[in-house]
Amino acid sequence: MDSPIDEALARLRAEFPARFEQATTEQALRDENAKILGKKGELTAILKDMGKAPPEARKAIGEKVNLVKQEVEKTFHACLAKLAKAKRDAELNARPFDLTLPGREVAPLGHKHPISIVREEVVEIFRGMGFAVHDGPDVDFEENNFTKLGFPPDHPATDMQDSFWTTSGHLLRTHTSNIQVRAMTTQAPPMAFIAPGSVFRRDDDATHSPMFHQLEAFLIDENVSLAHLKGVLAEFAERMYGPGTPVRLRPSYFPFVEPGAEVDVACVFCKKADGTRAGCNMCKHTGWIEILGCGMIHPVVFEACGIDPEKWTGFALGMGLERIAILRYGIPNIKLMFESDPRFLAQF
Ligand code: DAH
Repeated sequence: MDSPIDEALARLRAEFPARFEQATTEQALRDENAKILGKKGELTAILKDMGKAPPEARKAIGEKVNLVKQEVEKTFHACLAKLAKAKRDAELNARPFDLTLPGREVAPLGHKHPISIVREEVVEIFRGMGFAVHDGPDVDFEENNFTKLGFPPDHPATDMQDSFWTTSGHLLRTHTSNIQVRAMTTQAPPMAFIAPGSVFRRDDDATHSPMFHQLEAFLIDENVSLAHLKGVLAEFAERMYGPGTPVRLRPSYFPFVEPGAEVDVACVFCKKADGTRAGCNMCKHTGWIEILGCGMIHPVVFEACGIDPEKWTGFALGMGLERIAILRYGIPNIKLMFESDPRFLAQF
């Protein structure tokens, strides 16, 4: 007579193939398999019952259980493969993929902002002349932004520029000229740097934005003269706006240069076919648009930064990148550059 274990094994062996066949999904198949071979599975339970059998019968039972286990595993894997094949066949027999259909439109790519384009161009032009690129913080000490550049504490320029001060007495830099001080107080001449960056002023109207972009350039060496500055300016204007672009220097005042000048480029907005300028609102009917301030670095700046003004001379210039872009592309309104309007940005 068969033992209860034999009977249980025989029943399981007869039943399990049909149970596997009925599973129509991989998950159902795995669940069924776990019901038999899992920790609390039926075959596992039978194996545990083996302890109740007489010791001399255990080996034979163990062998039988193992045989059934192997059968279950084999069938399980065969069913698994069958399900996978059925799934793949269904995919292959489904409606075919039509390779001749037109593709979906790719979302339009972003564009570089005109300020970024112009900044990269200006940086490349100056790098070509041997200037290295310097970086600096947007928030700085008063002495780097004003004092060491020759602005006395009550100088009208500090007032005029109307700066953003932090509660700790720092300020958002009002110009990139702070990088001149940072370079001169940490490095010994000779040096030639440019420094692009954001600057901040309490200004907000049709032609001013409270945040805008500048690029500073300065060069310090022995025997640097105004002629070197003019040469660099001419090279810059030619590379930026094309050969023969008219440029002019007007004497001007900045506390950190002597002599100081402003540089104008011929207005692109009212240029006529014959090259003459009619005058327009953009250039306030002068035919010229200012693009930068410049000059020979003032001896008081050298002294404040610990550089011997008897030995070293240098020039500096600072330009507004919005202005450069306006002239480069004929953009009529500075505000357009801060509105993130894709119809505007897509034009560059
Ligand atoms: N920092 C000046 C401004 O923001 C521009 C400037 C003028 C920079 C003359 C210079 C310079 O380096 O020499 O208006």
